[in-house]
Amino acid sequence: MTTTDELPYPSGWFYLARARELAPGSVLTRRFLDEDIVLHRTRGGRLRAVRPHCPHLGAQLVAGGTVAGEHLVCPVHRFAFAPDGTCVGTPDGPPPCARLEHHPLSERNGLVLAWYDPEGAAPSWEVPDTARAGVVPTAAWSTEVRTHPQEIIENTVDYRHLPVPHQAAVQELDPPTTQGPLLHTRPRRGPDRPPALRHRIRADHTFLMAGLGYLRVELPLPSLGLVGYLWAMHTPTGPRRTQMLVATACADLRRPDATGASLPRHGLHRAFARAMLKTAVGKVRQDLRIWNTKRYEPRPRLAANDEGIGLFRHWARQFYPSS
Ligand code: FES
Ligand SMILES: [Fe+2]
Repeated sequence: MTTTDELPYPSGWFYLARARELAPGSVLTRRFLDEDIVLHRTRGGRLRAVRPHCPHLGAQLVAGGTVAGEHLVCPVHRFAFAPDGTCVGTPDGPPPCARLEHHPLSERNGLVLAWYDPEGAAPSWEVPDTARAGVVPTAAWSTEVRTHPQEIIENTVDYRHLPVPHQAAVQELDPPTTQGPLLHTRPRRGPDRPPALRHRIRADHTFLMAGLGYLRVELPLPSLGLVGYLWAMHTPTGPRRTQMLVATACADLRRPDATGASLPRHGLHRAFARAMLKTAVGKVRQDLRIWNTKRYEPRPRLAANDEGIGLFRHWARQFYPSS
């Protein structure tokens, strides 16, 4: 499966849904890699994402598939499939030897992520947890972008574009570093802000990319006793089509666990997360026209100060087959 002549779908973890959308017994459809994926949670709480066609006679499970106990039931002849995909029952006789194909899933911070590997390999790494347990987005926004996920996430290390569409600047606290499928950077946003604001509220971000579909930003604000989180996740839905989700959360900086804040603090966290989301969406909107119209440049002519992009491109190669 390729999305353009230049870039195939990359391996890695990709966002499909928020965990709260999937109560036990529920079934959802999501677009993933040019297919409708049937996401469902069994009554016992197990989460599954299966490919859309029933192996019996090829019916679409998307239209009317239901959960019965731990099984997904096809809407046409009511064959039942166990969580491992095996057909385990029919209404009137022994099941055939048949199996539903599925994508491995992971739940992180209330986000459901699906694994994809072009050769069908099992997950070889996990998205790291946040240091603070129980952080779950409280605000989110989504849009479709007409490009490949790599083109969107590359924007993070393109510091040169910040003063132009975003009228912003960053100071690099630590240069980008890579560790297997992870890429870290630590920019300080807004050295161009007024000095009074700059000194009162430091905006030192830690960016973590986990593959090409997942970016998490942590923004501790010690003067406010808060820490903000932002996720930008890019799911390939088809050729040159990516569904982007931006989500935010906020927690108390000194509390190791994000749950259990008092009611007024909880209200403050939600308001802060909404404000963070509004700022982030404003910046994404400024990038959208560029992403929707640019072409992938396989051999970019990098200039001085583009080192981050060079490192990113080198790191990104691991998510594609070597051929
Ligand atoms: S097509 Fe699904 S049970 Fe027959
Ligand atoms: Fe940007």
